[in-house]
Amino acid sequence: MARETWATRLGFILAAVGSAVGLGNIWRFPWQTAENGGSAFLVVYLGIVLLVGVPGLLGEFVIGRRANKSPVGALRELSGQRSWGFIGMFSVITGISLLSFYSVVGGWIMRYLLESGVSLVGSDPAYFTNPGQYFGGVSAGADAALYHLLFLGLTALIVFAGIRKGIELGTKIMMPAVLVLLGGLAAWAATQPNAAAGYAFFLRFDPSVISENFFAILGPAAGQALFTLSLGAGTMITYASYLGEDRSLPFDGSAIAVLNTSVGVITGLVVFPLLFSQGINPTETGTGPGALFVGLAGAFSQLPAGTLIATAFFAVVTLAALSSSISMLEIPVAFLVDEYDVSRKRAVAGMAGLVAVTGTVCAFEPSIFGFVAGTLVNILLTAGLAAFLLFVGWVMGRDAIEELASGAGSLGRSLSTPWLFAVGIVLPLFLVFTLLTHFGVDGSIGFWRTVGIAVVASAVAFFGLRRPESVV
Ligand code: PHE
Repeated sequence: MARETWATRLGFILAAVGSAVGLGNIWRFPWQTAENGGSAFLVVYLGIVLLVGVPGLLGEFVIGRRANKSPVGALRELSGQRSWGFIGMFSVITGISLLSFYSVVGGWIMRYLLESGVSLVGSDPAYFTNPGQYFGGVSAGADAALYHLLFLGLTALIVFAGIRKGIELGTKIMMPAVLVLLGGLAAWAATQPNAAAGYAFFLRFDPSVISENFFAILGPAAGQALFTLSLGAGTMITYASYLGEDRSLPFDGSAIAVLNTSVGVITGLVVFPLLFSQGINPTETGTGPGALFVGLAGAFSQLPAGTLIATAFFAVVTLAALSSSISMLEIPVAFLVDEYDVSRKRAVAGMAGLVAVTGTVCAFEPSIFGFVAGTLVNILLTAGLAAFLLFVGWVMGRDAIEELASGAGSLGRSLSTPWLFAVGIVLPLFLVFTLLTHFGVDGSIGFWRTVGIAVVASAVAFFGLRRPESVV
């Protein structure tokens, strides 16, 4: 059977934006910002999105479009070596790990959405009375598992319907809805009393906070940038594998990064004014995955028309989460379809069945959930992107330049050599360094020694991968 492709250019962009925009922007971003110094975090994060995120995104696109295969087949075919196929297998593991915790959070959100929607007629949502206690009750255990299965079921249905009729059509409906609802909420939040304090927390730029905390912020900001752009998992390789040669990858990649970052910033413009208007300071109320739910639920309960606003908010989050979860499930599904010729329907049933189990474990065990959502995902994404970019720079070499330039016009051609240098050398070095910080290495041996290890490890990788015809 012929491999599927996107029907339209906009379809691909919206699907990739749909993958990027998700709980990372709406749930993880405000929580990470609050935990890491507010606007200082924002600035470092924006820098990393621009300098690492965009070139990294192009790296994944180049692999996927060149091979027209999902990561395992793509790395094996383009290198002609089976061992690269094994490295590609990590993307399958990453996709399953991501979806296992993501689907649990998606379940929490659907639970809040249903609770708010039902309360539009009738009494206040149950979480208004005691937001902390409510969240404690629904975030782990049978309840969380049930809603996780519901969210996973919806995800599977969309992926089941295929690239054009499922993912493309779904994101074409979901993404505009997210943008309109979120814009409306931001405009409304601006009218709330004390909104200015929220903006100040989020946007006032204080250089001293950055200079004092730069290295502490760097790791979380890099993790957040990769997570939010869906980098390192092979999602973007997979999505680009359904692309034709006529699109400009640099244009599409930049559009995706700009749209994704805008959604993150607009979400901040909703969340922080709302919290501050109700006297809730996110750094004081404590942080962690639940803080946003508890804080916002508390704010909604005090607002005029709070139930309506809550319904709109949780609807945005549900749609954004779904358009990302489908891209996670597509990684292992495309792997089975490409490598084993399994039908899409069987592949979806098998993989969703597996995640039903792994997600249920996360739903019952907060410690496992925390490990998967934090440490494991950070490590898998950082190591994954480093491997993909080393592959682009040292295994694909000139082919990568040709692929990037294809369909990109003269600007694309002139950018491609500096880009290859960045993805082949600078970015892997940076990623290996952040990987070491995720393992806490810098804490035990100090910053400069960690830099030293990153340089040596990268040099060994460069040396090992060097092909005579590589450009860098
Ligand atoms: N980018 C998604 C979000 O922000 C998460 C994601 C990560 C999706 C990796 C796919 C791959 O929610």
